[in-house]
Amino acid sequence: MKRIAVLGAGNIGAAMIGGILKSGLADRDHLIATEASPERAEQIAARFGIPVRLRANREAAGWAEIIMLAVKPLTVPHVLEEIRDELRPDQILVSLAAAVPIALIEKLVAKRMPIFRAMPNIPVVVDEGATAVAANGAVTLEQRRLVEDIFAAVGYVVFVEEELMHAVTALSGSGPAYIYMVIEALIDGGLKMGLSREVATRLTEQTVLGAAKLVRETGLHPAILKDQVITPGGVTISAIHELEKHGLRSMLISAIETATLQSRRLTESLTSKLLSRNP
Ligand SMILES: NC(=O)c1ccc[n+]([C@@H]2O[C@H](COP(=O)([O-])OP(=O)(O)OC[C@H]3O[C@@H](n4cnc5c(N)ncnc54)[C@H](OP(=O)(O)O)[C@@H]3O)[C@@H](O)[C@H]2O)c1
Repeated sequence: MKRIAVLGAGNIGAAMIGGILKSGLADRDHLIATEASPERAEQIAARFGIPVRLRANREAAGWAEIIMLAVKPLTVPHVLEEIRDELRPDQILVSLAAAVPIALIEKLVAKRMPIFRAMPNIPVVVDEGATAVAANGAVTLEQRRLVEDIFAAVGYVVFVEEELMHAVTALSGSGPAYIYMVIEALIDGGLKMGLSREVATRLTEQTVLGAAKLVRETGLHPAILKDQVITPGGVTISAIHELEKHGLRSMLISAIETATLQSRRLTESLTSKLLSRNP
């Protein structure tokens, strides 16, 4: 069992703590967190029964074998500066900060050590996250497996080349927002056609959940699964025609493309901003 420090116990940090404890990857003696606000620190400590220290990032990092950086991107340089002297090549640093490249973390850390950059999404809160991970050249196979196990505790995990993180951000990082829009609109459609909000919501959430599960469990191309719902001259094809007329698929493809380019732009501007503050 490794000693793990989660620096920043916000939405994502707290989900990671919950997943790690539930999966047994670390017990309460092997897990510590840090926080910025006393109320949140108290709340997290009470919820998980682990020590949560106020801004004590340095001590937490010195104690840990795995350090998970779950603060906001603009806070990353401050925290790295704080913990830099405590970092050792035998530790693992895992950054969950969006748009902060490994090269920048390496520069801020100013030493060669294993560094992972992970892009989770918000369903990690219910252990159904989708996380992509990139690593630097100092990472061993064993460390890669360890980090894979950590993210597997809160959902699906895949390793990608770092350059693909922009596409990952656009697809699965932001993806829950798109799906919430679809869910909201389907519920509204049900309401318009006379279903109660309760019934429309339950039917929609189960439909989205069930459809996703079928894609996963059958391994079939979604077009085949879609075809299985269609009857010639029937109800589904009339709705599909309507969706095609409004360009649903093309719209989603364009959305991912636009979001990928935006992620690239934001990373560039964030990097130059952070570098100008930390030359
Ligand atoms: N949310 C997502 O969907 C998502 C998806 C992918 C990646 N991420 C990344 O995950 C990271 C965390 O996101 P989040 O949504 O969990 O944000 P969040 O809820 O704001 O969590 C950040 C936490 O860090 C605490 N903090 C601030 N300064 C600190 C310090 N010096 N030392 C220790 N803790 C400190 C904050 O406390 P206070 O609130 O009291 O300041 C807050 O609780 C971000 O870098 C984000 O880019 C998020």
